Amino acid sequence: MIEIKNLKKTFEGGTEALRGVDLKVNKGEFLSILGPSGSGKTTLLRSINGLENIDSGEIFFDSEKINKIYLPEVQKKTGMIFQEFNLVNNLSAINNVLTGLLNSSSKFLSMFYLFTKDQKLEALKALETVGLLDKAYNRADELSGGQRQRVGIARAIIKKPSLLLADEPVASLDPKAADLIMSLLKKINKEFKITIMCNLHQTELAAQYSDRIIGLLDGAIMFDKLASNINRTSINQIYK
Ligand SMILES: Nc1ncnc2c1ncn2[C@@H]1O[C@H](COP(=O)(O)OP(=O)(O)O)[C@@H](O)[C@H]1O
Ligand SMILES: [Mg+2]
Repeated sequence: MIEIKNLKKTFEGGTEALRGVDLKVNKGEFLSILGPSGSGKTTLLRSINGLENIDSGEIFFDSEKINKIYLPEVQKKTGMIFQEFNLVNNLSAINNVLTGLLNSSSKFLSMFYLFTKDQKLEALKALETVGLLDKAYNRADELSGGQRQRVGIARAIIKKPSLLLADEPVASLDPKAADLIMSLLKKINKEFKITIMCNLHQTELAAQYSDRIIGLLDGAIMFDKLASNINRTSINQIYK
Protein backbone atom coordinates (compact mmCIF):
# COMPACT_ATOMS: atom_id res chain seq x y z
CA MET A 1 0.00 0.00 0.00
CA ILE A 2 2.78 2.41 1.04
CA GLU A 3 6.45 1.99 0.33
CA ILE A 4 8.98 4.55 1.45
CA LYS A 5 12.55 4.41 0.24
CA ASN A 6 15.43 6.32 1.78
CA LEU A 7 13.29 9.31 2.72
CA LYS A 8 15.21 12.35 3.90
CA LYS A 9 14.03 15.72 5.10
CA THR A 10 16.06 18.54 6.60
CA PHE A 11 14.30 21.71 7.72
CA GLU A 12 15.63 25.20 7.24
CA GLY A 13 17.92 25.78 10.15
CA GLY A 14 19.47 22.37 9.70
CA THR A 15 17.25 20.00 11.68
CA GLU A 16 17.43 16.56 10.10
CA ALA A 17 13.87 15.42 10.72
CA LEU A 18 14.14 12.24 8.63
CA ARG A 19 17.51 10.61 7.94
CA GLY A 20 16.83 7.95 5.35
CA VAL A 21 13.63 6.17 6.34
CA ASP A 22 12.72 2.87 4.66
CA LEU A 23 9.26 1.54 5.39
CA LYS A 24 6.59 -0.69 3.87
CA VAL A 25 3.02 -0.61 5.06
CA ASN A 26 0.72 -3.39 3.90
CA LYS A 27 -2.85 -2.94 2.78
CA GLY A 28 -5.26 -3.16 5.71
CA GLU A 29 -2.49 -2.91 8.28
CA PHE A 30 -2.76 -0.86 11.48
CA LEU A 31 0.75 0.51 11.97
CA SER A 32 1.72 2.59 14.99
CA ILE A 33 4.70 4.91 14.97
CA LEU A 34 6.15 5.40 18.42
CA GLY A 35 8.78 7.93 19.31
CA PRO A 36 9.59 10.86 21.59
CA SER A 37 8.79 14.46 20.67
CA GLY A 38 10.92 15.66 17.80
CA SER A 39 11.72 12.18 16.49
CA GLY A 40 10.12 12.91 13.10
CA LYS A 41 6.70 11.25 13.39
CA THR A 42 4.68 14.20 12.12
CA THR A 43 7.12 14.92 9.30
CA LEU A 44 6.89 11.28 8.20
CA LEU A 45 3.08 11.33 7.96
CA ARG A 46 2.97 14.76 6.31
CA SER A 47 5.48 13.65 3.69
CA ILE A 48 3.06 10.98 2.49
CA ASN A 49 0.17 13.28 1.63
CA GLY A 50 2.35 16.10 0.38
CA LEU A 51 1.91 18.50 3.29
CA GLU A 52 5.68 18.42 3.60
CA ASN A 53 8.08 18.58 0.66
CA ILE A 54 10.74 15.90 0.86
CA ASP A 55 14.41 16.45 0.05
CA SER A 56 15.17 13.02 -1.36
CA GLY A 57 13.87 9.49 -1.47
CA GLU A 58 10.72 8.00 -2.93
CA ILE A 59 7.23 7.27 -1.70
CA PHE A 60 4.94 4.82 -3.47
CA PHE A 61 1.17 4.70 -2.98
CA ASP A 62 -0.47 1.53 -4.32
CA SER A 63 2.80 0.77 -6.13
CA GLU A 64 2.80 4.08 -7.99
CA LYS A 65 5.44 6.66 -7.21
CA ILE A 66 4.02 9.86 -5.73
CA ASN A 67 4.88 12.93 -7.77
CA LYS A 68 3.18 16.25 -8.51
CA ILE A 69 0.77 14.68 -10.97
CA TYR A 70 -0.20 11.71 -8.79
CA LEU A 71 -0.37 13.66 -5.50
CA PRO A 72 -3.97 14.98 -5.88
CA GLU A 73 -5.21 11.40 -6.29
CA VAL A 74 -3.19 10.31 -3.27
CA GLN A 75 -4.73 13.15 -1.28
CA LYS A 76 -8.20 12.09 -2.38
CA LYS A 77 -7.55 8.57 -1.09
CA THR A 78 -5.97 9.70 2.18
CA GLY A 79 -7.71 10.99 5.31
CA MET A 80 -5.93 12.69 8.17
CA ILE A 81 -6.73 13.28 11.82
CA PHE A 82 -4.90 15.54 14.22
CA GLN A 83 -4.03 15.87 17.88
CA GLU A 84 -5.92 19.17 18.19
CA PHE A 85 -8.82 17.93 16.04
CA ASN A 86 -8.66 21.01 13.73
CA LEU A 87 -12.43 21.51 13.66
CA VAL A 88 -14.14 24.78 12.81
CA ASN A 89 -15.59 25.76 16.18
CA ASN A 90 -18.61 27.72 15.03
CA LEU A 91 -19.76 25.04 12.59
CA SER A 92 -22.01 22.13 13.50
CA ALA A 93 -20.60 18.61 13.68
CA ILE A 94 -22.25 17.69 10.36
CA ASN A 95 -20.82 20.72 8.56
CA ASN A 96 -17.38 19.94 9.92
CA VAL A 97 -17.74 16.42 8.54
CA LEU A 98 -18.83 17.81 5.17
CA THR A 99 -15.66 19.89 4.93
CA GLY A 100 -13.91 16.53 4.52
CA LEU A 101 -15.36 16.44 1.00
CA LEU A 102 -13.82 19.74 0.00
CA ASN A 103 -10.48 19.89 -1.68
CA SER A 104 -8.21 22.76 -0.90
CA SER A 105 -9.34 24.76 -3.92
CA SER A 106 -13.04 24.99 -3.09
CA LYS A 107 -12.98 25.81 0.65
CA PHE A 108 -15.73 27.04 2.90
CA LEU A 109 -17.54 29.89 1.18
CA SER A 110 -19.55 27.63 -1.02
CA MET A 111 -20.13 24.82 1.40
CA PHE A 112 -23.59 25.71 2.61
CA TYR A 113 -24.94 25.79 -0.93
CA LEU A 114 -22.90 23.08 -2.53
CA PHE A 115 -23.60 19.93 -0.64
CA THR A 116 -26.21 17.63 -2.03
CA LYS A 117 -28.74 15.67 -0.05
CA ASP A 118 -26.72 12.52 -0.70
CA GLN A 119 -23.59 14.11 0.71
CA LYS A 120 -25.47 15.18 3.82
CA LEU A 121 -26.69 11.62 4.21
CA GLU A 122 -23.10 10.41 3.87
CA ALA A 123 -22.07 12.85 6.59
CA LEU A 124 -24.80 11.54 8.89
CA LYS A 125 -23.67 8.00 8.14
CA ALA A 126 -20.09 8.90 9.06
CA LEU A 127 -21.33 10.45 12.31
CA GLU A 128 -23.32 7.30 12.98
CA THR A 129 -20.17 5.21 12.46
CA VAL A 130 -18.41 7.19 15.18
CA GLY A 131 -21.48 7.11 17.45
CA LEU A 132 -22.30 10.80 17.26
CA LEU A 133 -25.49 10.95 15.24
CA ASP A 134 -27.29 12.65 18.12
CA LYS A 135 -24.77 15.53 18.09
CA ALA A 136 -24.93 16.18 14.34
CA TYR A 137 -26.36 19.68 14.76
CA ASN A 138 -24.36 20.71 17.81
CA ARG A 139 -21.62 23.24 17.29
CA ALA A 140 -18.13 21.76 17.46
CA ASP A 141 -17.25 23.92 20.46
CA GLU A 142 -20.12 22.38 22.45
CA LEU A 143 -18.52 18.96 22.27
CA SER A 144 -16.03 17.24 24.59
CA GLY A 145 -12.50 16.46 23.42
CA GLY A 146 -13.34 12.84 22.72
CA GLN A 147 -16.46 13.84 20.79
CA ARG A 148 -14.50 16.41 18.81
CA GLN A 149 -12.01 13.76 17.79
CA ARG A 150 -14.88 11.52 16.73
CA VAL A 151 -16.06 14.35 14.46
CA GLY A 152 -12.46 14.54 13.18
CA ILE A 153 -12.59 10.84 12.34
CA ALA A 154 -15.98 11.20 10.62
CA ARG A 155 -14.56 14.08 8.56
CA ALA A 156 -11.64 11.87 7.53
CA ILE A 157 -13.73 8.83 6.56
CA ILE A 158 -16.54 10.59 4.68
CA LYS A 159 -14.48 10.51 1.50
CA LYS A 160 -13.89 6.78 1.93
CA PRO A 161 -10.11 6.88 2.04
CA SER A 162 -7.95 3.80 1.68
CA LEU A 163 -5.30 5.28 3.99
CA LEU A 164 -5.81 7.11 7.27
CA LEU A 165 -2.96 9.15 8.76
CA ALA A 166 -3.50 9.81 12.46
CA ASP A 167 -1.07 12.24 14.07
CA GLU A 168 -1.19 11.66 17.82
CA PRO A 169 -4.97 11.41 17.75
CA VAL A 170 -5.28 10.79 21.50
CA ALA A 171 -2.53 13.01 22.92
CA SER A 172 -5.04 15.64 24.06
CA LEU A 173 -7.50 13.18 25.59
CA ASP A 174 -7.98 11.56 28.98
CA PRO A 175 -7.30 7.79 29.15
CA LYS A 176 -10.93 6.75 28.81
CA ALA A 177 -11.56 8.93 25.77
CA ALA A 178 -8.22 7.80 24.34
CA ASP A 179 -9.28 4.15 24.58
CA LEU A 180 -12.56 4.91 22.88
CA ILE A 181 -10.85 6.71 20.00
CA MET A 182 -8.29 3.92 19.56
CA SER A 183 -10.99 1.23 19.48
CA LEU A 184 -12.92 3.31 16.98
CA LEU A 185 -9.84 3.52 14.75
CA LYS A 186 -9.42 -0.24 15.09
CA LYS A 187 -13.05 -0.79 14.11
CA ILE A 188 -12.69 1.45 11.06
CA ASN A 189 -9.46 -0.34 10.14
CA LYS A 190 -11.11 -3.77 10.25
CA GLU A 191 -14.62 -3.01 8.97
CA PHE A 192 -13.72 -0.73 6.09
CA LYS A 193 -10.24 -2.21 5.50
CA ILE A 194 -8.67 1.23 5.76
CA THR A 195 -4.90 1.11 6.25
CA ILE A 196 -3.90 3.18 9.29
CA MET A 197 -0.63 4.85 10.17
CA CYS A 198 -0.93 6.26 13.67
CA ASN A 199 1.60 8.37 15.56
CA LEU A 200 1.50 7.68 19.28
CA HIS A 201 3.34 8.41 22.49
CA GLN A 202 1.88 5.61 24.56
CA THR A 203 3.45 2.17 24.14
CA GLU A 204 0.49 0.44 25.79
CA LEU A 205 -2.02 1.85 23.30
CA ALA A 206 0.23 0.96 20.38
CA ALA A 207 0.63 -2.60 21.65
CA GLN A 208 -3.07 -3.01 22.32
CA TYR A 209 -4.53 -1.67 19.10
CA SER A 210 -2.05 -2.01 16.27
CA ASP A 211 -0.77 -4.89 14.20
CA ARG A 212 2.76 -3.58 13.91
CA ILE A 213 4.88 -0.92 15.59
CA ILE A 214 7.88 1.02 14.42
CA GLY A 215 10.05 3.04 16.79
CA LEU A 216 11.44 6.32 15.56
CA LEU A 217 14.30 8.27 17.14
CA ASP A 218 16.06 11.30 15.67
CA GLY A 219 14.61 10.66 12.23
CA ALA A 220 15.63 7.00 12.02
CA ILE A 221 13.72 3.75 12.51
CA MET A 222 15.12 1.92 15.54
CA PHE A 223 12.82 -1.11 15.45
CA ASP A 224 10.04 -2.56 13.33
CA LYS A 225 8.06 -5.32 15.03
CA LEU A 226 4.73 -7.04 15.27
CA ALA A 227 2.80 -5.49 18.15
CA SER A 228 2.70 -8.89 19.84
CA ASN A 229 6.51 -9.03 19.89
CA ILE A 230 7.13 -5.64 21.39
CA ASN A 231 9.18 -5.69 24.59
CA ARG A 232 11.13 -3.53 27.03
CA THR A 233 14.32 -3.78 24.98
CA SER A 234 12.60 -2.30 21.91
CA ILE A 235 11.07 0.51 23.92
CA ASN A 236 14.41 1.34 25.55
CA GLN A 237 15.83 1.96 22.10
CA ILE A 238 13.61 5.02 21.66
CA TYR A 239 12.86 6.25 25.19
CA LYS A 240 16.11 6.59 27.06
N1 LIG B 1 8.50 23.52 10.00
C1 LIG B 1 9.62 23.19 10.67
N2 LIG B 1 10.70 23.98 10.64
C2 LIG B 1 11.85 23.66 11.29
N3 LIG B 1 11.98 22.53 12.01
C3 LIG B 1 10.94 21.69 12.08
C4 LIG B 1 9.70 21.98 11.42
N4 LIG B 1 8.83 20.96 11.67
C5 LIG B 1 9.50 20.09 12.46
N5 LIG B 1 10.76 20.52 12.70
C6 LIG B 1 11.79 19.80 13.49
O1 LIG B 1 11.97 18.51 12.93
C7 LIG B 1 12.11 17.54 13.95
C8 LIG B 1 11.02 16.48 13.81
O2 LIG B 1 9.77 17.10 14.08
P1 LIG B 1 8.39 16.33 14.05
O3 LIG B 1 8.28 15.56 12.79
O4 LIG B 1 7.32 17.31 14.35
O5 LIG B 1 8.58 15.29 15.26
P2 LIG B 1 7.46 14.57 16.17
O6 LIG B 1 6.16 14.63 15.43
O7 LIG B 1 7.97 13.19 16.37
O8 LIG B 1 7.42 15.33 17.46
C9 LIG B 1 12.07 18.30 15.26
O9 LIG B 1 13.38 18.54 15.67
C10 LIG B 1 11.34 19.57 14.92
O10 LIG B 1 11.75 20.62 15.76
MG1 LIG C 1 4.34 15.37 16.02
